[in-house]
Amino acid sequence: MSRQWIHLTVNSRPLSVPAGTSVAAAIARLDLGFRRSVRGQTRMPLCGMGVCFECRVRINGRPGQRACMVPVTNDMCVEVDAR
Ligand code: FES
Repeated sequence: MSRQWIHLTVNSRPLSVPAGTSVAAAIARLDLGFRRSVRGQTRMPLCGMGVCFECRVRINGRPGQRACMVPVTNDMCVEVDAR
């Protein structure tokens, strides 16, 4: 059985990940960070289950999406505010 790959972009960088991967796991492959705190520190996912809101990113133009709760889809456009 072959694995299905999903193609998306993260900060305009093309990325391919296996179907079923969360957006958070996809972003982690790029070592970018997810967002910055009000003091400019890079923030990363903490809980991985939708509680802490540390993984908020912009998905297809919608800000504040919890990356750990959203599975990747083809042609998804993800933007993170890190580094
Ligand atoms: S990692 Fe906690 S809400 Fe996503």
